[in-house]
Formats: sequence, C-alpha cells, structure tokens
Amino acid sequence: MADQARKDQIVEGLKQAYWMELEAAINFIACSINPDGVRAAEIKQSLAGDVVAEIGHAQAVAARIKELGGTVPGSQGFEPTQTSLQPPEDSTDIVSVIRGVIDVEGAVIELYNRVIALCDGVDYVTQDLCIRCLADEETHKVEFEGFLKEYETRG
Ligand SMILES: [Fe+2]
Ligand SMILES: [Fe+2]
Repeated sequence: MADQARKDQIVEGLKQAYWMELEAAINFIACSINPDGVRAAEIKQSLAGDVVAEIGHAQAVAARIKELGGTVPGSQGFEPTQTSLQPPEDSTDIVSVIRGVIDVEGAVIELYNRVIALCDGVDYVTQDLCIRCLADEETHKVEFEGFLKEYETRG
C-alpha cells in the first residue's frame, strides 16, 4: 500500500470523482426529461441509461474510499461545478445539452486519468476501478461526440 501522503491524495481524488459522478447523475436526470422535440428523444433515452451507470460508478468509488480508510462525505460537502450542463433556456436546444455532456465526460476522464497515474505502483485495486470507470466515460463521450457530429452536419 502507498505511503500515507500518496494514499491521502488518492482518497481525495476518489472523493472528487464521487461528487462528479453524482453531479453528472443529477444533470443527466434533468437532461433526460427537460428537452423537447422529436430529435431530443434519442439523447434523452441515452442519458436516462447513463444515470444508472454514473450512480453505479459513484457507489463503487464510495466503497473504495471506505476501503482506503476514508469516509464517504455527506451532501453538505457538495460543491457543484458542471455549469455547462445546466438546462438551456430553450428546451429544444439539444446541441447545448450534447456539448454539456461532452464537457462533463471530458472532466471526469481527466480526473480518472490523474488518479490512475497517482495509483501507479502503489494501489492497483483503485487503479483498476478507475480504469473501468474511465472506459465507460470514454464510451459515453464518444457516443455524444457522434451525436454532435450528426447535429453539426445536418443542422
Ligand atoms: Fe461515471
Ligand atoms: Fe459517463
């Protein structure tokens, strides 16, 4: 196991991931319900499915925080960061939702990569967990980049 300083950094990274996953779930619920229009249907359905995935990630990350001797925080520690994924004024503005999702997935991908690097050589169990989450986030991001491509091509 890692020395204490490294272990603390890993736990801090996991706590940040925990919040990002939960905030993603909050915003994905909103974006799976709010948008209007025929073309929103596919996006809404995809996001509704991702809510379950992100909550699963949050639960797995929380379990690892506990295993490392940390405490899973309560809601009063929560500070929102996902400004680009707030509901757009125009409920048919699907592109803004797609861009917001790509942003959020990109941020969580960056964080998991950072924690994976921190874990290298010292905590392979956390590293493995973060790699599995990272794989899911990359899949989500590529899917939404595909949606964006279609919107940009066809208007
Ligand atoms: Fe996730
Ligand atoms: Fe995701």
